[in-house]
Amino acid sequence: MNKNNILPPEEIEAQQAYIARMRRDNDAYLAEHGTRRGAFVLTFGCQQNEADSEKLAGLSEAMGYTVVDCPEAADLIVVNTCAIREHAEQKALSIVGQYKHLKTKNPSLVIAVCGCMVTQEHRKDDIKFRYPYVDFVFGTSSIHRFPQLLCEKLAKGKRLYCPEETEYLVAEGLPIRRESSYRAWVSIMYGCNNFCSYCIVPYVRGRERSREMGPIVEEVRELVAKGYKDITLLGQNVNSYGKDSGYPYDFADLLAELDKIEGDFYLRFMTSHPKDASRKLIDVMAASEHIARHFHLPMQSGSDKILKAMNRHYDTARYLDIVSYMREKMPDVTITSDIIVGFPGESEEDFEGTLNMLRTVGFDMLYSFIYSPRKGTPAAEMEQVPREIQNARFDRLLALQGEIAKAKNQPLVGKPLRVLCDGVSKNNPALYSGRTEGNKIAFFEGAPEDTGKFVDFVADRADAFAFYGKKI
Ligand code: 5AD
Ligand code: SF4
Repeated sequence: MNKNNILPPEEIEAQQAYIARMRRDNDAYLAEHGTRRGAFVLTFGCQQNEADSEKLAGLSEAMGYTVVDCPEAADLIVVNTCAIREHAEQKALSIVGQYKHLKTKNPSLVIAVCGCMVTQEHRKDDIKFRYPYVDFVFGTSSIHRFPQLLCEKLAKGKRLYCPEETEYLVAEGLPIRRESSYRAWVSIMYGCNNFCSYCIVPYVRGRERSREMGPIVEEVRELVAKGYKDITLLGQNVNSYGKDSGYPYDFADLLAELDKIEGDFYLRFMTSHPKDASRKLIDVMAASEHIARHFHLPMQSGSDKILKAMNRHYDTARYLDIVSYMREKMPDVTITSDIIVGFPGESEEDFEGTLNMLRTVGFDMLYSFIYSPRKGTPAAEMEQVPREIQNARFDRLLALQGEIAKAKNQPLVGKPLRVLCDGVSKNNPALYSGRTEGNKIAFFEGAPEDTGKFVDFVADRADAFAFYGKKI
C-alpha cells in the first residue's frame, strides 16, 4: 500500500511532547486558580473547516484547556478562517479586529489565526502589519503543529508566522472534540487537484491526498458504536477519493465497505464533482442500506461556454446524464447543487442556460453565490460582469429556485418521513427542528428527549425551505 501521503507518525509523536508540556503548565494553573484556562475556537467557512476546528478544539483540550463558547472567557483564541469569497475574509478580519480590546483587558490572552485565508501570503502580511496583537499564524498544512506553535510562542514571547509546508500530508491520530453527539464529520481526503478557474481552494489546501480506508472504517465504526446517527464523509472532492494515492480502492469501494457497518445511521458525503460521479458510485448508493438518498452535486453553471471557462471538465449534457441515471436507480433521491452567478463573461444567454437547467433538473435545494474574484486565480483576470447585473441575476435565480423547491416539496406532504431531531429550533423557538434523509428541514412540536434521535414525522405543509408538521 502507498503510504507516501501520510505524515510520519514521529511527527505526531513530536507534537505529543508539546501537548504534554502545555498540559503540565495548564494543570499547574488549575492547581493554583481552581479553574482551567479557557480556549475559544471560532470557525468560518465550510464543513472541512468545521472538522479542522474540532481537531483544534481536541488539541486544546488535550493541552489542558477547557473549551469555552465565548471569547471573553478565553485565555487562548483560535480563529479558523475561510477564503472562498471576499465576504468570508472580511468577516474574519473584522472579528479579529474586535479581539484587540480583549487583549488590552487580558494581556496574557493568546490569539492565533489559522486556516485558508492566512494560507495566502498577502493575508499573512495583512495580519502581520495590521493586527499586531495576533500572536501566531498558521496555514492549513500546519494544523497538526498547533501545540508546537503555541509552546514556542509562549516560550519565546515573539510573534510567529508558520511557513507553509512544501508537502501537504494526511495527519492521522489527532484528538477530535466533536461538537455534536449524534452528527459527525469524518474527513476522508484533503486538498483539491481541479483548479476550477474561480476557486482558491487548490492554492490554500494543496493537492489531493486521501486517508487510508482502514482508519476511516475504524473511525466510522466507533462513531456508530457511540450512537452517532448521521455521519458525513468530507473532502473538497470526495468522489475522487483514493485516486491521488494509488490505493487499490476508490470512493465507491469505501462507501460499500462503510455500508457494511451495522447500526441505525445515515452516511452522507460532500462535496462531489460531476466529472467523478461514476455509475459505480450511484449503483453502490442505490444498493446501500445506510447511504442517505441525497446527492449534492455542484453544477456551477448551466452554460457549456461558462463551464469550459470555469475549467469544470463536463458539459450540461453530461450533468443531465448523471442526474437521469441517479433518478433511474433512486427515484426518490434528493439532488442539491451549488451555482455561481455572474462568472466573468456570463452573458444573458448563458444565464438563461442556467435557469433552464434549474427547470430541467428540478433541484431540491441550491446554494447560490455571486462570483467573487479571488487573487491569484485565472478568473480574477477575466472580464468581470458588472455588480448590478450580477445582483439582478442572483435575485432571478433565487425567485425561480424558490418556486421549484416549493413544488418539489409538495408531494412529500402527508407522507411519513424520518427526521433526525436537532432539538429546539434556533429560528423558531416554539418548535423543534430536524433533518430528513434528503437533509431538508422539518419543524414539529417535540420534546427534549427527541434531540439526537430519529423521529417519525408527517408534514401538513411545505414551503421552499422546510416542512411543517407533527410527530406520528
Ligand atoms: N466566487 C463565488 N462562489 C465561489 N465558490 C467557489 N469559489 C467561488 C468564488 N470565487 C462556490 C462554488 C463552490 C462553493 C463551495 O462555493 O459554488 O461549489
Ligand atoms: Fe473556505 Fe474553501 Fe477553505 Fe472551506 S476549503 S474554508 S470553503 S476556502
